[in-house]
Order: sequence, then C-alpha cells, then structure tokens
Amino acid sequence: MLQDVEQLGGPARFTYCEDANIPDYLNRHYWWAYVHPKAVHFFDRGWVINLILLGNYHRLRDAALAEFSERPLGRMLQISCAYGDLSARLARRAAKLGGTLEVVDVLPIQLKNLKWKLPSRTPARLLRMDSTDLRLPDQSYEQVLLFFLLHEQPADIRSKTLREALRVLKPGGKLVIVEFAKPKWWNPMRYLLRPLLGTLEPFALDLWDRDLVEMLPPFTGVRRSLYYGGLYQKLVVTR
Ligand SMILES: C[S@@+](CC[C@H](N)C(=O)[O-])C[C@H]1O[C@@H](n2cnc3c(N)ncnc32)[C@H](O)[C@@H]1O
Repeated sequence: MLQDVEQLGGPARFTYCEDANIPDYLNRHYWWAYVHPKAVHFFDRGWVINLILLGNYHRLRDAALAEFSERPLGRMLQISCAYGDLSARLARRAAKLGGTLEVVDVLPIQLKNLKWKLPSRTPARLLRMDSTDLRLPDQSYEQVLLFFLLHEQPADIRSKTLREALRVLKPGGKLVIVEFAKPKWWNPMRYLLRPLLGTLEPFALDLWDRDLVEMLPPFTGVRRSLYYGGLYQKLVVTR
C-alpha cells in the first residue's frame, strides 16, 4: 500500500510503500554501509565516498549529471539513494530545467538522510520502495538513474531492477547507469581490487565477469564511457 506520510515543504514529500521489506542481501552484506545508523553518519562525508571510489567521486557524479542537462528535463527517477551531493544537485537541476526528481530507496534511514540534504522547496519526492518492485506506472519517466546500485545486488535481483528501470522509462527516455566494470588488463586495480571487492562487495565482481550491456534487452540503444582505466563505466541506455 502506498501512503503519503510527510510534507517536506513545497512539493517535496515522502511516499512510503509499507510492504517493502529490507532485502536479505542488504541486511547480510551491507548492514555496515547503509542499514546501521552509525553507517550513515560515518560514510556520508565527501572525503569518505571519494576515498571509496579511489578519488573518482566528483568525476563520476559529474558524468552522471552531464546526462541531465537538457530542458525540459521532465520526470526524473533516481533508483536508490547515494551518499554525497548527487541527489541535491539533481534536485537543483530539476528545479532549473523544468523537471522533477523522485528518489526510491528501500531503507527509511537513507531517505530520511537524503531529506536533509535536499535544498528546501525542491521539486522532489522520496519513495520507500524496492527497486525490484517499483509501484510506479509503466513509461512514466523521461530520465532514470542507477548510480552504483547494481553491483550491490545478487544477479537475479539485479536483472529485476534493470527490468523495472526500463519498464518505467518512457519511449525516447534515457536510463543512465554508473557502475563498476572490468578494468583494462594494464590497470593495476584489476589485480589489487579483486580480493577486496570479493570480500566486501560479494556481487560486484559479477560486473567484471559479465558485461552489463549483455543484460540489456535488444530494443535499447547503448552508449558507453569508461573511467579510471575501465574500472568504472557510464552506460546511457535509450529505448
Ligand atoms: C546506490 S547504493 C550505493 C551507492 C554508492 N556506494 C554511494 O553511496 O555513492 C546504496 C543504496 O541502495 C539502496 N538499496 C539497496 N538495495 C535496494 C533495493 N532493492 N531497493 C531500493 N534501494 C536499495 C540502499 O538502501 C542504499 O541507500
């Protein structure tokens, strides 16, 4: 059941889907990063997220933002919160370019944290939903963003999230994915990061072993940009 529970000022508001349960993989593998209250406090700092992305946070954030610069922006959906100021920047951009921002996340603690980061009177709505079961109509967004969510999800969940992201995208709309990819053979990160990722982010190496593009349906067009010796990628998917 969907319920509007809180006015944030202006048109921004929370919508809670009460039957969205916290997925098992989040509780099991990512409690330390997203679920525990101290995690939010510790990780949501510029220098920490920049360190985690090996100094590439600003570059990757700006690469995502660069895809949302045309007027009118229309309805934009960010599937899952991200630490840092990406959503605040998207909300400002939406206000400037004639659009709206909706952000989905399954964890109330993350949505509440985001609420304090959004500029006041922002054209934003925060939705508590699971990325695999978006309670949103088909073909209802001009823009959809997945910023570093897919690598955290087991393969079956990842496919469902991708399917949902494409389902809610309007024909002619744009899905932007910023994610890990397999680094080039000459990139030392290809050898140094494997054990670390394998331990801390058990599903991330899937994106090294199977190209994300192969998971997209054939009716989509894809443009890819690589960053940091191929460790990161941006996919711009159109339908
Ligand atoms: C986008 S990823 C992290 C991105 C990156 N590490 C960062 O913070 O910049 C983490 C977010 O995804 C959310 N999340 C994970 N699985 C989800 C799901 N099935 N549905 C909705 N949100 C989910 C988590 O609650 C968390 O807020």
